[in-house]
Order: sequence, then structure tokens, then C-alpha cells
Amino acid sequence: MKELIQKIEAREAFIGIIGLGYAGLPLVIRFGEEGFHVLGFDIDPQKVDLLNEGESYLQSVPKDRIGDLVRSGIFLATSDFRRLSEMDSILICVPTPLTEKMEPDLLYIETTAHQIAEHMKRGQLIVLESTTYPGTTEEILLPKFRARGWREGEDFFLAYSPEREDPGNREYSTKSIPKIVGGITRNCQKVANALYRQIIDDVVTVSTTRAAEMTKLLENIYRSVNIALVNELKILADRMGIDIWEVIEAASTKPFGYFPFYPGPGMGGHCIPIDPFYLSWKAREFDFTTRFIQLSGEINISMPYHVVSKAIDALNGRKKSVRGAHILILGVAYKRDIDDIRESPALAIMKLLQDKGAKIAYNDPHVPKLHPMRKYHFTMRSKPLTKELLREVDLVMIITDHSQYDYQWIVNNASLVVDTRNATKGVHSARTKIIKA
Ligand SMILES: NC(=O)c1ccc[n+]([C@@H]2O[C@H](COP(=O)([O-])OP(=O)(O)OC[C@H]3O[C@@H](n4cnc5c(N)ncnc54)[C@H](O)[C@@H]3O)[C@@H](O)[C@H]2O)c1
Repeated sequence: MKELIQKIEAREAFIGIIGLGYAGLPLVIRFGEEGFHVLGFDIDPQKVDLLNEGESYLQSVPKDRIGDLVRSGIFLATSDFRRLSEMDSILICVPTPLTEKMEPDLLYIETTAHQIAEHMKRGQLIVLESTTYPGTTEEILLPKFRARGWREGEDFFLAYSPEREDPGNREYSTKSIPKIVGGITRNCQKVANALYRQIIDDVVTVSTTRAAEMTKLLENIYRSVNIALVNELKILADRMGIDIWEVIEAASTKPFGYFPFYPGPGMGGHCIPIDPFYLSWKAREFDFTTRFIQLSGEINISMPYHVVSKAIDALNGRKKSVRGAHILILGVAYKRDIDDIRESPALAIMKLLQDKGAKIAYNDPHVPKLHPMRKYHFTMRSKPLTKELLREVDLVMIITDHSQYDYQWIVNNASLVVDTRNATKGVHSARTKIIKA
């Protein structure tokens, strides 16, 4: 153990990062910036080639930073998992999606665990970063690594430390977001802490890997439940003729005991719509029903339907039907100023409108084209946002409030606008064209 800690503190430890996506690449950059040599592992050969050319395929990961690390020989990507045996520390950042039946799909973690078990060497630290249910590190990873007769805390070190990346957040970076770490044994904890202290300002220790796994889920469930609460109250406020955004702004002036959450067209991204269900699934093993998770899931999943019914009402107010209407969607990324469309409510809304016979076009400065995904099969390109386009369509729907948009200009040129984000808050003229949804 001492030897590995010394190597880490001297920044001579060779770091392997498995899964080079939104979670893995910021870690590559952080370790690289601190002088560690990093080998990235991914099963996608296209990503591997692109990264080795010094390119980035994600907007939130600047290509010049990847390029610098590649050129200086600090970072290399590979699909050769035999090289796991060269690593001193291995961080796992592979996807943890849900199956179609909304159950955890642990195939990626299991495959990775198998690959590590096949190539691991004595004395390595292995950390799972993927979001998952409490017990995954102990129940899935540990038995595989013990199979050779090796003991945790002596022959290898195992910990869980959840990724807390927030793409597009300019206030907090990987370095300044405190990192939760839980080890399988005290020795595992010590080694994992030593590693993260090199790259993160504040490392927070919890007593077990389960506690660390649960911490990440609490954070995401807290968001999911609170977003569902304001989404539900938005629908009620709308019926009562009250502007929910005005109410939230007023409540936010309370200096204690209130933290604002904002309603929207539905929930998106890789985390909040998915992670809570990892816990619901695990809870069944304990004869427990997670009612808040189910309820918030139901409300948030229903939001695109609410938005579509507001769009139908808006068209109806102009004596138009949704069938045959030309509708322009502004913003398809799941949140402001990013290029990630995973689980984006925009896609659900577009599909619902298309099924009702609307003719859909979209603009998103961060998403130049849509390609078929597991659930949606759009093949469309972002249309340039021009006066002509705004005038041509029957309805403009603001689904994602990118800061690049000039909302006054949009409202001036469109005939009808449905705003799901209160993006038109600062628009002063032609407000009668705006319907909040
Ligand atoms: N995106 C975020 O902001 C974020 C934030 C917090 C936590 N997380 C968690 O991090 C994990 C990864 O999410 P992500 O958003 O980075 O996903 P991603 O899809 O962006 O990246 C995952 C990468 O893993 C690769 N991969 C898949 N199977 C592999 C395997 N067997 N071996 C090696 N590589 C493999 C994929 O090709 C892909 O490049 C998830 O558990 C997620 O919940 C993500």
C-alpha cells in the first residue's frame, strides 16, 4: 500500500480510465494537468482514433486541452484492454442505463469488471465512478477481483467515488467539486483518498462504498423530486391563472429554508431521469417501495404531454389544428448551452407532435444534426434561425433556453411562441404572442 501511495504522491502512478465520455474525459484532463500519465480505454474505436488525433467529440471537453495532452505524450486512448495490467490505478466511468423495463442495465459494469479481473496485477487501485445502486461495488466488482484468491486492502484496493460532473457549469470545475470517496477497507480508503487528493481540492470520506453509492443517488433523487414538485405546481398555477415563475422568484427572496427549482418541459440528461430508478429497483430486495421516486418519475415523464397540450391550445386560439401545422422547436439539448441530447424532453415533444401530424423543424446552435437513437429515430439537421423561418412557421416552441438566442428578436418575428422555460422573461413588446407552458 505504501509503495502505491508514494507513487501516487510522486505523480508517477500510471492512471487508466475506462469509458471516455462525459464523465471519463474530464478526469483524463484533470490527471493529465497534474502531470500523471493517463491511458484511456474505450470500446468505441472511432472515439479512440479521434482522441489520439487530439480531437474532442464533446463540446464540454475542449479539444485544445486533449490535443496538448496527446502531443506531450501524457494521454493516449486505446481499445486494447490487455494494457490494464500496466496501470497503477483504474477508474471506471462506463454507462449505467436502464433497460426498456426501467431496470438497471449493469452489462457495461459487468463487462468492465470481467476485463479488469482478466488483466489485473497485484497492488492496483480500482475505483468505480459510474452511478449505480448501493451494493454494486461490493456485490458485482469485489467477487470478480477476489477470484484469484487475492484479498482486498492487501493485494488490491477497491473503492467507489461518484462522478459529479455538471457539463456546461462555468462556476464549478472537476477540481473544485468536492469528491465523495468510500473504500471497501480502510486501506482501500487510504489509497483512494491519496489518489483523489492529487486532483481535487476537497475529498470527503464516507465509511463504506454503499454510503458513497447512496450519496450520489440522494443528490439526484433530491433534484428529481423537487423538479417534479414545481412541475406539478406549475400545472396547478396555470389553471389558477398564476405565473409559477413569478412565485418562485418571490419565494427565492427568503434567505433560509428555501432553494429554488424550476419547472420545464420534462427531465433530461443521463442522470436525473435514470438514476433514481436504480434505487427503486434495489429497494424491492428489501420489501420497500420508493414512493417519492415513483411519483416524481411519473410527473416528470408526463411533462412533455402537458407541453404538447399547451401547444395544441395555442394553435387552437389561432383557429389552427396541430395536424399540418409547421412547428419550429428551439433547443433540443436537454439543458442550456450544452450539446447533450440524451433523454432530452425535446425529442419526446417532437415525437408526440409528429404523431399528431405536425411538421417539425428544429434549431439548436449546439446540436447540428439529430441521428437515430434507441428510442427516437429522427434524422434532421438544425435549420438556420432566420427571420424568414420564424415568419414561415405557425408556432415556435422554446424547449431549451440557450443563452445564444435573442428572445426579443424571436418573439418579434414569430407569430406564436410557446415558452417552456420562461426564457422570454425579458421580452417587453409583443408579449401577447407568448404562451407559457
Ligand atoms: N454525463 C454526466 O454528466 C455524468 C455525471 C455524473 C455521473 N455520470 C455517470 O457516469 C457514467 C458514465 O456516463 P457518461 O455520461 O460519461 O457516459 P458516456 O456515454 O458519455 O461515456 C461512456 C463511454 O464508455 C464507453 N464504454 C461503454 N462500454 C465500455 C466498456 N465495456 N469498456 C470501455 N468503455 C466502454 C462508451 O463508448 C463511451 O465512450 C454513468 O454511470 C453516469 O451515470 C455522468
